[in-house]
Amino acid sequence: MTQAGTLEKIMRNTDGNSPGGASPGVFSVTSGKGGVGKTNITTNLAYCLARRGKRVLVIDADLNLANIDILLGLAPKYNIQHVLSGDKTLAQVLVRGPGGFQILPASSGILSLATLDEAQKLFLLSEMEEMAHDLDFLLIDTAAGINDNVIYFNLAAQERLVVLTPEPTSLTDAYALIKVMTANHGIDRFRVLVNMAGSKAESMAVYRKLAMTAERFLGSVSLDYLGFIPMDSKITGAVRQQKLMAELFPDSRATRAIDGLAGRLIEEYEKSDGTDDNFFWRGMLNL
Ligand SMILES: Nc1ncnc2c1ncn2[C@@H]1O[C@H](COP(=O)(O)OP(=O)(O)O)[C@@H](O)[C@H]1O
Ligand SMILES: [Mg+2]
Repeated sequence: MTQAGTLEKIMRNTDGNSPGGASPGVFSVTSGKGGVGKTNITTNLAYCLARRGKRVLVIDADLNLANIDILLGLAPKYNIQHVLSGDKTLAQVLVRGPGGFQILPASSGILSLATLDEAQKLFLLSEMEEMAHDLDFLLIDTAAGINDNVIYFNLAAQERLVVLTPEPTSLTDAYALIKVMTANHGIDRFRVLVNMAGSKAESMAVYRKLAMTAERFLGSVSLDYLGFIPMDSKITGAVRQQKLMAELFPDSRATRAIDGLAGRLIEEYEKSDGTDDNFFWRGMLNL
C-alpha cells in the first residue's frame, strides 16, 4: 500500500470507536537478567490464557538462543522484517503456538522498532490496529539486560511483570531495571512475580527485599506482589521435549501457579472497561 493509502486507512480507523471495542491488555515480561524464566512464563501464561478462551498474541522481543521458536520447536518462515519491507501483512507472519495463542517470531527487525521512520511506523500501526480488535492479551517476552529495546517494550506495555528469583543477582538486576524505568522514564508501577521459589514464604521475602530497596532509594515507586511460581522440574522436562509445561503437565505445581495468574489477569482485564483503544500501538510506535 502507498504511504498516502496507509495514512488514509489510519485516519479512518483511529477515531477511537472501532467496532471491535476494547483494546488488549498489554504486559511486558521483564527482569534485567537472563535465565530467570521469562520465556517459560510468557509462553505458559499465553497457553493458560488461551485455554481459558482468551485471544493472545506473544511478541518475542528476545533474539537470544533460547527464544520462543526454539523453546517450542517452531521454524517460522517469516517475521516482522517481512512486514516492514511490505512483503507480508502482520497476520501472515504470525505463527500459531500450542493451544492456539499466536506468536510474532523474533527477528533482528524487532531491534529496529525503536528507530523506524515515520512512514514505517504508520504502516505498522495500520497493520496492528487491524489485529488489536481480535486480541484480549498481548504479552511481550523481553530480552535480558537493560538496553534501548528492553526499555522500549517496557514503555509500550500497560503493565510490567518483573520476574525475579531468590538468587541475589536477580534481585540486583531487577532493581537496576526498575531504577532506569523510574528515574529516566517516569514509570512508577511494576508487578512482581517470583519464579523458582521454594515456598510462598521465600517468595514473599524476596519480594520484600526488592520493595524495601526500591522504596528506600527510589521513593514513590509502587511494586505489587503478583505471586510466585515454584521451582518445578516439570518445566525443564517440557523444555527438553520442546513442549510447553502447561500442555504436557497440566497438573504440575508450576502450571497451577501460572494458570492461577492467568485467572487473576483475566479478572482484572474484565473489570477494566477496555476503552483505551489504540493505547499500546501508539505507545509502541511512539506516535
Ligand atoms: N519455575 C521453574 N522451575 C524450574 N526451572 C525453571 C523454572 N522457570 C524456568 N526454569 C528453567 O530456567 C531456565 C531459563 O528459563 P527461561 O524461560 O529461558 O529464562 P529467560 O527467558 O528469563 O532467560 C530454563 O532452562 C527453564 O527450564
Ligand atoms: Mg528468554
